[in-house]
Amino acid sequence: MAFQKPTGTQDLLPGTVEKWQFIEEKARDLCRRYNYREVRTPIFEQTSLFERGVGETTDVVEKEMYTFMDKGDRSMTLRPEGTAGVVRAYVENKLYGEPDVSKLYYIGPMFRYERPQAGRQRQFHQFGIEAFGATAPAIDAEVVALGYQFCCELGLQDVKVEINSVGNAESRAAYRQTLLDFLTPMKDTLCKDCQSRMERNPLRVLDCKIDQDKFVNAPSILDSLDEECTAHFAKVQELLTAMEVEYVINPRLVRGLDYYTHTAFEYKAQGIGAIDTIGGGGRYNGLVSEVGGPDQPGIGMAIGLERIALILEKQEIGISGIKPLDIYLVSLGEAADREVTIQTAKLRQAGFSVDRDYLGRKIKAQMKSADRMQAKFTAILGDDELERGEIMLKAMETGEQRTVKLDDLANELKK
Ligand code: HAM
Repeated sequence: MAFQKPTGTQDLLPGTVEKWQFIEEKARDLCRRYNYREVRTPIFEQTSLFERGVGETTDVVEKEMYTFMDKGDRSMTLRPEGTAGVVRAYVENKLYGEPDVSKLYYIGPMFRYERPQAGRQRQFHQFGIEAFGATAPAIDAEVVALGYQFCCELGLQDVKVEINSVGNAESRAAYRQTLLDFLTPMKDTLCKDCQSRMERNPLRVLDCKIDQDKFVNAPSILDSLDEECTAHFAKVQELLTAMEVEYVINPRLVRGLDYYTHTAFEYKAQGIGAIDTIGGGGRYNGLVSEVGGPDQPGIGMAIGLERIALILEKQEIGISGIKPLDIYLVSLGEAADREVTIQTAKLRQAGFSVDRDYLGRKIKAQMKSADRMQAKFTAILGDDELERGEIMLKAMETGEQRTVKLDDLANELKK
Protein backbone atom coordinates (compact mmCIF):
# COMPACT_ATOMS: atom_id res chain seq x y z
CA MET A 1 0.00 0.00 0.00
CA ALA A 2 1.34 3.41 -0.98
CA PHE A 3 1.07 6.25 1.50
CA GLN A 4 0.70 9.92 0.64
CA LYS A 5 1.41 13.02 2.67
CA PRO A 6 -1.66 14.64 4.24
CA THR A 7 -3.46 17.23 2.08
CA GLY A 8 -2.01 20.68 2.48
CA THR A 9 1.42 19.54 3.69
CA GLN A 10 4.77 19.44 1.93
CA ASP A 11 7.92 17.33 1.90
CA LEU A 12 10.90 19.66 1.80
CA LEU A 13 13.54 17.56 0.07
CA PRO A 14 17.28 18.13 -0.41
CA GLY A 15 17.63 20.65 -3.23
CA THR A 16 14.71 22.68 -1.83
CA VAL A 17 15.57 22.55 1.82
CA GLU A 18 18.78 24.53 1.18
CA LYS A 19 16.58 27.46 0.12
CA TRP A 20 14.66 27.17 3.36
CA GLN A 21 17.91 27.09 5.33
CA PHE A 22 18.99 30.25 3.52
CA ILE A 23 15.70 31.98 4.43
CA GLU A 24 15.92 30.78 8.04
CA GLU A 25 19.56 31.87 8.35
CA LYS A 26 18.56 35.33 7.17
CA ALA A 27 15.85 35.45 9.85
CA ARG A 28 18.29 34.37 12.57
CA ASP A 29 20.95 36.82 11.44
CA LEU A 30 18.48 39.71 11.41
CA CYS A 31 17.26 38.78 14.89
CA ARG A 32 20.87 38.78 16.09
CA ARG A 33 21.32 42.29 14.70
CA TYR A 34 18.06 43.52 16.26
CA ASN A 35 18.78 41.61 19.50
CA TYR A 36 15.72 39.30 19.44
CA ARG A 37 16.33 35.94 21.11
CA GLU A 38 14.86 32.60 20.09
CA VAL A 39 12.03 30.87 21.95
CA ARG A 40 10.72 27.40 21.19
CA THR A 41 7.27 26.69 22.54
CA PRO A 42 5.14 23.53 22.16
CA ILE A 43 3.44 22.79 18.86
CA PHE A 44 0.22 22.05 20.73
CA GLU A 45 -1.41 23.98 23.55
CA GLN A 46 -4.67 23.92 25.46
CA THR A 47 -7.49 24.78 23.07
CA SER A 48 -8.77 27.49 25.40
CA LEU A 49 -5.51 29.45 24.99
CA PHE A 50 -6.33 30.08 21.33
CA GLU A 51 -10.04 30.61 21.99
CA ARG A 52 -9.14 33.28 24.54
CA GLY A 53 -6.10 34.69 22.81
CA VAL A 54 -6.90 34.64 19.11
CA GLY A 55 -10.62 35.24 19.62
CA GLU A 56 -13.68 33.01 19.43
CA THR A 57 -15.27 34.79 16.48
CA THR A 58 -12.23 34.60 14.21
CA ASP A 59 -12.13 32.23 11.24
CA VAL A 60 -8.97 30.70 12.67
CA VAL A 61 -10.71 29.59 15.87
CA GLU A 62 -14.15 28.94 14.41
CA LYS A 63 -13.18 26.95 11.36
CA GLU A 64 -9.51 26.20 11.07
CA MET A 65 -8.13 24.65 14.22
CA TYR A 66 -6.79 21.11 14.49
CA THR A 67 -8.37 20.28 17.83
CA PHE A 68 -8.33 16.88 19.49
CA MET A 69 -8.99 15.28 22.87
CA ASP A 70 -5.87 13.72 24.36
CA LYS A 71 -5.91 10.48 26.30
CA GLY A 72 -6.44 12.45 29.51
CA ASP A 73 -9.64 13.95 28.07
CA ARG A 74 -8.15 17.42 27.65
CA SER A 75 -8.91 19.48 24.58
CA MET A 76 -5.66 20.29 22.77
CA THR A 77 -5.00 22.22 19.56
CA LEU A 78 -2.09 22.24 17.12
CA ARG A 79 -0.96 25.87 17.18
CA PRO A 80 -2.58 27.87 14.35
CA GLU A 81 -0.18 30.77 14.99
CA GLY A 82 2.75 31.61 17.24
CA THR A 83 1.73 34.63 19.29
CA ALA A 84 -0.64 32.98 21.78
CA GLY A 85 1.91 30.32 22.76
CA VAL A 86 4.72 32.86 23.15
CA VAL A 87 2.49 35.05 25.32
CA ARG A 88 1.61 32.00 27.43
CA ALA A 89 5.33 31.19 27.82
CA TYR A 90 6.10 34.83 28.69
CA VAL A 91 3.48 34.76 31.44
CA GLU A 92 4.16 31.24 32.73
CA ASN A 93 7.93 31.82 32.94
CA LYS A 94 7.48 35.30 34.40
CA LEU A 95 9.67 36.92 31.77
CA TYR A 96 7.88 40.17 32.64
CA GLY A 97 10.03 40.22 35.78
CA GLU A 98 13.12 40.96 33.69
CA PRO A 99 14.32 44.56 33.62
CA ASP A 100 14.61 44.86 29.82
CA VAL A 101 12.02 44.66 27.08
CA SER A 102 11.61 40.95 26.17
CA LYS A 103 12.38 40.61 22.47
CA LEU A 104 11.72 37.08 21.22
CA TYR A 105 11.58 35.28 17.89
CA TYR A 106 10.51 31.88 16.58
CA ILE A 107 10.60 29.85 13.41
CA GLY A 108 8.39 26.80 13.12
CA PRO A 109 5.34 24.97 11.83
CA MET A 110 1.77 26.19 12.35
CA PHE A 111 -1.46 24.37 11.47
CA ARG A 112 -4.71 25.64 10.00
CA TYR A 113 -7.41 23.55 8.38
CA GLU A 114 -7.79 25.70 5.27
CA ARG A 115 -8.51 24.89 1.64
CA PRO A 116 -5.03 24.39 0.19
CA GLN A 117 -3.86 26.48 -2.77
CA ALA A 118 -0.55 28.05 -3.79
CA GLY A 119 0.73 29.77 -0.64
CA ARG A 120 -1.97 28.26 1.57
CA GLN A 121 -1.15 25.06 3.41
CA ARG A 122 -2.57 23.15 6.34
CA GLN A 123 0.91 22.85 7.82
CA PHE A 124 2.89 25.99 7.09
CA HIS A 125 5.84 27.78 8.68
CA GLN A 126 6.19 31.20 10.20
CA PHE A 127 9.11 33.36 11.18
CA GLY A 128 7.72 35.60 13.90
CA ILE A 129 8.89 38.08 16.51
CA GLU A 130 7.22 39.36 19.68
CA ALA A 131 8.34 42.25 21.91
CA PHE A 132 6.86 42.68 25.39
CA GLY A 133 6.91 45.46 27.92
CA ALA A 134 7.09 48.69 25.90
CA THR A 135 4.44 51.03 24.55
CA ALA A 136 6.92 53.34 22.80
CA PRO A 137 6.19 53.87 19.09
CA ALA A 138 9.90 53.12 18.51
CA ILE A 139 9.23 49.43 19.10
CA ASP A 140 6.24 49.46 16.72
CA ALA A 141 8.50 50.94 14.07
CA GLU A 142 11.28 48.45 14.85
CA VAL A 143 8.97 45.44 14.47
CA VAL A 144 7.56 46.71 11.16
CA ALA A 145 11.08 47.49 9.94
CA LEU A 146 12.53 44.09 10.85
CA GLY A 147 9.99 42.24 8.70
CA TYR A 148 10.46 44.72 5.87
CA GLN A 149 14.24 44.37 6.02
CA PHE A 150 13.88 40.57 6.04
CA CYS A 151 11.98 40.71 2.73
CA CYS A 152 14.35 43.28 1.21
CA GLU A 153 17.55 41.47 2.19
CA LEU A 154 16.21 38.24 0.70
CA GLY A 155 15.90 40.18 -2.54
CA LEU A 156 12.09 40.23 -2.81
CA GLN A 157 10.99 42.96 -5.18
CA ASP A 158 8.19 45.49 -4.69
CA VAL A 159 7.39 44.65 -1.08
CA LYS A 160 4.81 47.03 0.33
CA VAL A 161 3.92 47.66 3.92
CA GLU A 162 0.33 48.64 4.70
CA ILE A 163 -0.31 50.08 8.13
CA ASN A 164 -3.34 51.08 10.10
CA SER A 165 -4.32 51.78 13.67
CA VAL A 166 -7.19 49.85 15.21
CA GLY A 167 -6.96 52.06 18.30
CA ASN A 168 -7.72 51.16 21.91
CA ALA A 169 -10.89 49.57 23.28
CA GLU A 170 -12.74 52.90 23.55
CA SER A 171 -11.88 54.00 20.01
CA ARG A 172 -12.92 50.63 18.68
CA ALA A 173 -16.26 50.76 20.53
CA ALA A 174 -16.93 54.18 18.96
CA TYR A 175 -15.96 52.88 15.52
CA ARG A 176 -18.04 49.75 15.94
CA GLN A 177 -21.15 51.90 16.26
CA THR A 178 -20.23 54.16 13.31
CA LEU A 179 -19.56 51.10 11.18
CA LEU A 180 -22.82 49.43 12.18
CA ASP A 181 -24.70 52.61 11.17
CA PHE A 182 -23.08 52.28 7.76
CA LEU A 183 -23.65 48.52 7.39
CA THR A 184 -27.20 48.18 8.72
CA PRO A 185 -29.00 49.58 5.63
CA MET A 186 -27.17 47.09 3.37
CA LYS A 187 -27.40 44.13 5.76
CA ASP A 188 -29.75 42.07 3.53
CA THR A 189 -27.38 42.35 0.57
CA LEU A 190 -24.40 40.98 2.50
CA CYS A 191 -23.21 37.37 2.60
CA LYS A 192 -24.26 35.08 5.45
CA ASP A 193 -20.84 35.31 7.14
CA CYS A 194 -20.97 39.13 7.09
CA GLN A 195 -24.47 39.17 8.54
CA SER A 196 -23.37 37.01 11.42
CA ARG A 197 -20.15 39.00 11.88
CA MET A 198 -22.16 42.22 12.05
CA GLU A 199 -23.71 40.96 15.23
CA ARG A 200 -20.66 39.44 16.80
CA ASN A 201 -17.64 41.37 15.53
CA PRO A 202 -18.50 44.06 12.96
CA LEU A 203 -14.85 45.02 12.24
CA ARG A 204 -14.31 41.59 10.72
CA VAL A 205 -16.87 42.43 8.03
CA LEU A 206 -14.30 44.68 6.35
CA ASP A 207 -12.11 41.63 5.80
CA CYS A 208 -14.78 39.79 3.76
CA LYS A 209 -13.47 38.61 0.40
CA ILE A 210 -16.98 38.40 -1.14
CA ASP A 211 -18.45 41.78 -0.22
CA GLN A 212 -15.27 43.84 -0.15
CA ASP A 213 -16.37 46.15 -3.01
CA LYS A 214 -19.40 47.28 -1.02
CA PHE A 215 -17.24 48.80 1.67
CA VAL A 216 -15.19 51.31 -0.33
CA ASN A 217 -17.16 54.16 1.26
CA ALA A 218 -17.18 52.68 4.74
CA PRO A 219 -16.17 55.12 7.49
CA SER A 220 -12.48 55.07 8.37
CA ILE A 221 -11.43 53.81 11.79
CA LEU A 222 -8.83 56.57 11.84
CA ASP A 223 -11.66 59.11 12.30
CA SER A 224 -12.75 57.32 15.49
CA LEU A 225 -9.33 57.30 17.17
CA ASP A 226 -8.95 59.34 20.33
CA GLU A 227 -6.10 61.79 20.83
CA GLU A 228 -3.69 59.31 22.38
CA CYS A 229 -4.21 56.70 19.65
CA THR A 230 -3.86 59.33 16.93
CA ALA A 231 -0.61 60.63 18.43
CA HIS A 232 0.81 57.09 18.76
CA PHE A 233 -0.03 56.29 15.14
CA ALA A 234 1.45 59.59 13.92
CA LYS A 235 4.70 58.89 15.76
CA VAL A 236 4.95 55.38 14.30
CA GLN A 237 4.54 56.83 10.81
CA GLU A 238 7.12 59.51 11.46
CA LEU A 239 9.67 56.91 12.61
CA LEU A 240 8.97 54.58 9.69
CA THR A 241 9.56 57.46 7.28
CA ALA A 242 12.79 58.35 9.07
CA MET A 243 13.89 54.69 8.88
CA GLU A 244 13.12 54.65 5.15
CA VAL A 245 10.53 51.90 5.38
CA GLU A 246 8.14 52.33 2.46
CA TYR A 247 4.58 52.11 3.71
CA VAL A 248 1.06 53.18 2.83
CA ILE A 249 -1.83 53.75 5.22
CA ASN A 250 -4.76 51.43 4.66
CA PRO A 251 -7.62 52.45 6.99
CA ARG A 252 -9.54 49.30 6.00
CA LEU A 253 -6.82 46.93 7.14
CA VAL A 254 -8.30 44.74 9.86
CA ARG A 255 -6.37 41.64 10.71
CA GLY A 256 -7.84 38.14 10.97
CA LEU A 257 -7.04 37.79 14.67
CA ASP A 258 -8.81 39.59 17.50
CA TYR A 259 -6.00 40.62 19.81
CA TYR A 260 -4.81 43.75 18.01
CA THR A 261 -4.78 47.27 19.45
CA HIS A 262 -3.21 50.40 17.92
CA THR A 263 -0.75 49.57 15.13
CA ALA A 264 -1.76 46.82 12.69
CA PHE A 265 0.16 46.11 9.50
CA GLU A 266 0.73 43.72 6.62
CA TYR A 267 3.51 43.01 4.15
CA LYS A 268 2.37 42.59 0.56
CA ALA A 269 4.13 41.29 -2.54
CA GLN A 270 3.08 39.94 -5.92
CA GLY A 271 3.80 36.48 -7.21
CA ILE A 272 1.48 33.92 -5.58
CA GLY A 273 -1.70 34.13 -7.61
CA ALA A 274 -4.56 35.75 -5.74
CA ILE A 275 -2.67 35.90 -2.45
CA ASP A 276 -0.61 39.03 -1.90
CA THR A 277 -0.12 39.06 1.88
CA ILE A 278 3.15 37.53 2.97
CA GLY A 279 3.09 38.57 6.60
CA GLY A 280 1.44 40.73 9.18
CA GLY A 281 1.29 41.78 12.75
CA GLY A 282 0.48 44.47 15.20
CA ARG A 283 0.28 45.62 18.76
CA TYR A 284 -1.69 43.60 21.32
CA ASN A 285 -1.76 45.55 24.56
CA GLY A 286 -4.53 43.48 26.19
CA LEU A 287 -3.35 39.98 25.34
CA VAL A 288 -0.88 39.34 28.16
CA SER A 289 -3.50 40.11 30.80
CA GLU A 290 -6.14 38.16 28.84
CA VAL A 291 -3.89 35.10 29.14
CA GLY A 292 -3.56 35.62 32.89
CA GLY A 293 -0.45 37.80 33.12
CA PRO A 294 0.10 41.35 34.30
CA ASP A 295 -0.98 44.35 32.25
CA GLN A 296 2.01 44.33 29.88
CA PRO A 297 1.90 45.59 26.30
CA GLY A 298 3.16 43.57 23.35
CA ILE A 299 3.71 43.84 19.64
CA GLY A 300 4.88 41.41 16.97
CA MET A 301 4.67 40.15 13.45
CA ALA A 302 4.90 36.88 11.54
CA ILE A 303 5.84 36.11 7.96
CA GLY A 304 4.82 32.93 6.11
CA LEU A 305 7.88 31.08 4.84
CA GLU A 306 6.05 29.09 2.13
CA ARG A 307 4.97 32.40 0.64
CA ILE A 308 8.51 33.79 0.79
CA ALA A 309 9.87 30.64 -0.90
CA LEU A 310 7.21 30.84 -3.64
CA ILE A 311 7.91 34.48 -4.40
CA LEU A 312 11.66 33.93 -4.47
CA GLU A 313 11.01 31.27 -7.08
CA LYS A 314 8.53 33.38 -9.08
CA GLN A 315 10.81 36.39 -9.08
CA GLU A 316 13.60 34.05 -10.14
CA ILE A 317 15.80 34.98 -7.25
CA GLY A 318 18.40 32.23 -7.39
CA ILE A 319 19.40 30.50 -4.21
CA SER A 320 21.58 27.51 -4.87
CA GLY A 321 19.84 24.25 -4.05
CA ILE A 322 23.17 22.63 -3.28
CA LYS A 323 25.98 23.34 -0.87
CA PRO A 324 29.29 22.53 -2.60
CA LEU A 325 31.37 19.82 -0.99
CA ASP A 326 34.96 20.65 0.06
CA ILE A 327 36.40 17.34 -1.09
CA TYR A 328 35.42 13.95 -2.52
CA LEU A 329 37.79 11.06 -1.84
CA VAL A 330 38.15 8.54 -4.65
CA SER A 331 39.59 5.13 -3.82
CA LEU A 332 40.95 2.34 -6.02
CA GLY A 333 41.39 -1.04 -4.40
CA GLU A 334 40.69 -2.53 -1.01
CA ALA A 335 43.63 -1.13 0.94
CA ALA A 336 43.04 2.36 -0.45
CA ASP A 337 39.36 2.07 0.46
CA ARG A 338 40.30 1.42 4.09
CA GLU A 339 42.66 4.42 4.12
CA VAL A 340 39.91 6.60 2.58
CA THR A 341 37.70 5.70 5.53
CA ILE A 342 40.40 6.97 7.88
CA GLN A 343 41.19 10.10 5.85
CA THR A 344 37.48 10.96 5.53
CA ALA A 345 37.12 10.85 9.31
CA LYS A 346 40.25 13.00 9.82
CA LEU A 347 39.15 15.66 7.33
CA ARG A 348 35.66 15.82 8.83
CA GLN A 349 37.21 16.29 12.26
CA ALA A 350 39.30 19.12 10.77
CA GLY A 351 36.06 20.82 9.68
CA PHE A 352 35.83 19.97 5.98
CA SER A 353 32.73 18.65 4.25
CA VAL A 354 33.74 15.31 2.80
CA ASP A 355 32.13 12.45 0.94
CA ARG A 356 33.33 9.21 -0.65
CA ASP A 357 32.21 6.12 -2.51
CA TYR A 358 30.40 3.38 -0.62
CA LEU A 359 29.43 1.20 -3.58
CA GLY A 360 32.81 -0.11 -4.79
CA ARG A 361 32.41 1.74 -8.10
CA LYS A 362 35.00 2.41 -10.80
CA ILE A 363 36.99 5.63 -10.82
CA LYS A 364 34.81 7.22 -13.55
CA ALA A 365 31.60 6.72 -11.58
CA GLN A 366 33.26 8.12 -8.46
CA MET A 367 34.42 11.22 -10.37
CA LYS A 368 30.84 11.73 -11.62
CA SER A 369 29.60 11.67 -8.02
CA ALA A 370 32.20 14.32 -7.15
CA ASP A 371 30.85 16.48 -10.00
CA ARG A 372 27.23 16.06 -8.92
CA MET A 373 28.16 17.08 -5.37
CA GLN A 374 30.04 20.08 -6.77
CA ALA A 375 33.20 19.06 -4.91
CA LYS A 376 35.86 21.76 -4.94
CA PHE A 377 38.57 19.09 -4.76
CA THR A 378 38.86 15.39 -5.37
CA ALA A 379 41.66 13.29 -3.94
CA ILE A 380 42.46 9.99 -5.64
CA LEU A 381 44.07 7.18 -3.73
CA GLY A 382 45.34 3.97 -5.38
CA ASP A 383 47.48 1.20 -3.89
CA ASP A 384 50.69 2.74 -5.37
CA GLU A 385 50.07 6.15 -3.79
CA LEU A 386 49.13 4.45 -0.55
CA GLU A 387 52.47 2.63 -0.45
CA ARG A 388 54.28 5.97 -0.81
CA GLY A 389 52.00 7.61 1.79
CA GLU A 390 50.73 10.04 -0.81
CA ILE A 391 47.48 11.03 -2.50
CA MET A 392 46.67 12.81 -5.77
CA LEU A 393 44.82 16.09 -5.11
CA LYS A 394 42.84 17.67 -7.95
CA ALA A 395 41.28 21.15 -7.94
CA MET A 396 38.05 20.64 -9.87
CA GLU A 397 37.71 24.17 -11.17
CA THR A 398 41.20 24.50 -12.71
CA GLY A 399 41.94 20.82 -13.26
CA GLU A 400 45.32 21.33 -11.57
CA GLN A 401 46.71 18.16 -9.99
CA ARG A 402 49.49 17.55 -7.52
CA THR A 403 50.67 14.80 -5.26
CA VAL A 404 50.61 15.56 -1.54
CA LYS A 405 51.61 13.60 1.56
CA LEU A 406 48.59 11.86 3.12
CA ASP A 407 49.49 13.38 6.47
CA ASP A 408 49.45 16.87 4.90
CA LEU A 409 46.08 16.58 3.17
CA ALA A 410 44.16 18.76 5.66
CA ASN A 411 46.87 21.45 5.61
CA GLU A 412 47.00 21.44 1.81
CA LEU A 413 43.23 21.94 1.70
CA LYS A 414 43.45 24.86 4.09
CA LYS A 415 45.75 26.61 1.63
P1 HAM B 1 -1.44 35.92 10.33
O1 HAM B 1 -1.69 37.10 9.46
O2 HAM B 1 -2.60 35.05 10.66
O3 HAM B 1 -0.77 36.50 11.64
O4 HAM B 1 -0.32 35.02 9.69
C1 HAM B 1 0.92 35.56 9.33
C2 HAM B 1 1.39 34.97 8.03
O5 HAM B 1 1.43 33.54 8.11
C3 HAM B 1 0.49 35.24 6.84
O6 HAM B 1 0.69 36.51 6.30
C4 HAM B 1 0.94 34.16 5.88
O7 HAM B 1 2.14 34.52 5.22
C5 HAM B 1 1.23 33.01 6.81
N1 HAM B 1 0.08 32.08 6.80
C6 HAM B 1 -1.04 32.14 7.52
N2 HAM B 1 -1.85 31.11 7.22
C7 HAM B 1 -1.21 30.38 6.28
C8 HAM B 1 -1.52 29.17 5.56
N3 HAM B 1 -2.65 28.48 5.78
N4 HAM B 1 -0.61 28.73 4.66
C9 HAM B 1 0.54 29.39 4.43
N5 HAM B 1 0.88 30.51 5.09
C10 HAM B 1 0.02 31.00 6.00
C11 HAM B 1 -0.38 35.73 12.70
O8 HAM B 1 -0.30 34.53 12.67
C12 HAM B 1 0.02 36.54 13.91
N6 HAM B 1 0.39 35.60 14.98
C13 HAM B 1 1.15 37.49 13.58
C14 HAM B 1 1.56 38.28 14.77
C15 HAM B 1 2.66 38.08 15.53
N7 HAM B 1 0.90 39.30 15.28
C16 HAM B 1 1.55 39.75 16.34
N8 HAM B 1 2.60 38.99 16.51
